[in-house]
Amino acid sequence: MSGSNSPSNVGDVDGRVEAACRAIESDAKVPAFVFSHRDVWELELERIFGRSWVFVGHASEIPEPGDYRLRYIGTDPYIFVRDEGGTIRVLFNSCRHRGTEVCRSEKGNTSHFRCPYHGWTFSNDGSLTGVPFKETFREDCFDLEEEDVDLFEPPQVDSYAGFYFACLDAGTDPFDEWIGDFEWYLDVNFDIATDGWEVVGDPHRYELDTNWKLGAENFAGDTYHHPSTHHSVLTEAYGFGQEESLHETFSGGMSRLVACEGKHGADFITGPPDELLDFPADVIDASGLDDEQRAFLEVAQKFVGNLFPNFSFLTMDATRNGEEFRSAMSVRKWRPIGPNTTEIWNWILVPTGVSDEYREEAYRAMHATFSPSGNFEPDDYAVWRSIPDAAESITARKHDLETYRNNFQHLGMIDDAEYADRLNESEWPGEVDAAPSSDMAGHTVYSGWAEMMSGSGSRGRPEEADER
Ligand code: FES
Ligand code: FE
Repeated sequence: MSGSNSPSNVGDVDGRVEAACRAIESDAKVPAFVFSHRDVWELELERIFGRSWVFVGHASEIPEPGDYRLRYIGTDPYIFVRDEGGTIRVLFNSCRHRGTEVCRSEKGNTSHFRCPYHGWTFSNDGSLTGVPFKETFREDCFDLEEEDVDLFEPPQVDSYAGFYFACLDAGTDPFDEWIGDFEWYLDVNFDIATDGWEVVGDPHRYELDTNWKLGAENFAGDTYHHPSTHHSVLTEAYGFGQEESLHETFSGGMSRLVACEGKHGADFITGPPDELLDFPADVIDASGLDDEQRAFLEVAQKFVGNLFPNFSFLTMDATRNGEEFRSAMSVRKWRPIGPNTTEIWNWILVPTGVSDEYREEAYRAMHATFSPSGNFEPDDYAVWRSIPDAAESITARKHDLETYRNNFQHLGMIDDAEYADRLNESEWPGEVDAAPSSDMAGHTVYSGWAEMMSGSGSRGRPEEADER
């Protein structure tokens, strides 16, 4: 066990998790053991990833009938596929005969998945279509016509702006209720592309020795770390001033943090009106937004957010070509493959219809900033990876180490910014905080965590929860 700082069975850790939920809910302190304990991770797989809406893939990754990609919900393997009729499906990658994976390629195009073990064959809509030597089966063995032996599908699948999410629990709130008020902010980020979004290339995929919650929390809202963690890149590569003015920049009314539904968070940097970030005007259409959303969008320079539990997004002007910026979006998934191991998936997207030159430049720019070889991302890795190490230390155990997320300044609605006349934050949904050091938005990952782990849950139809 890598997180060996407590008894090894789930029953033993249950009480500690309950206490952690209470500490998170009462004073926003997060006990450190939740970042390293193997039993906590196993409970998370069941209670969070087995019951939450989890991102699977984007429609543009599988444009043609038969296109598929291998994906995961927690640690469960799924096939994200467009069937012959054009319907996008999420199929459990496990043969109904003995459980072998039926698809072993990361991506491709096929009309059928043929199990490599005994050759059972499933159509790309999941239905069983072929069983070798079926005529030799004993009659009372089982009736393939009667029995449901199609590939399993999650009880709930839904999409937003071409992004597909699945939920393994029929009792969880429907997707639109799950995102709730956060949709207002999601719309400002996602609902501005005339013909939707297009994934460029394959997602980056890499492992980091850290806990999944730390990436999610950082994207949900950690403006506080910018001047410190990213000091060198902000000053050297981006030409901000030295530390003093850097802090000034980030405390000068430019930041806004938001928290919605007790589990989703975002932060964004505002600046001089800079329409629709800098996406080419001919692929952008914000007419679906209301006046407040458009005012918000006009001064938005960068969006970063996390839809609980582990779907993050970042939209920014990533580079410039002469006087023109190149904006792009990165979408993240923090996949928990162990208590101390996160598999990070990073998709880079641009609005559908941009020129080949723009697509290439935007991709390269995102790659050069927010990817394993980018100039921002390794800074974050360096600080995230040491936290689980501390969490499982003897010293942490002896001190019952708690970590702090209780700096909620609630200075929202301050009107010090020169953009105040453009922003009417009182109309914004959820909670708003303008203090750059506030933990309010990042804490949503832990308030959501406590809600799901304690079983109190925002699962709207608890009576249906166990019907699976
Ligand atoms: Fe798939 Fe036997 S396990 S055909
Ligand atoms: Fe960072």
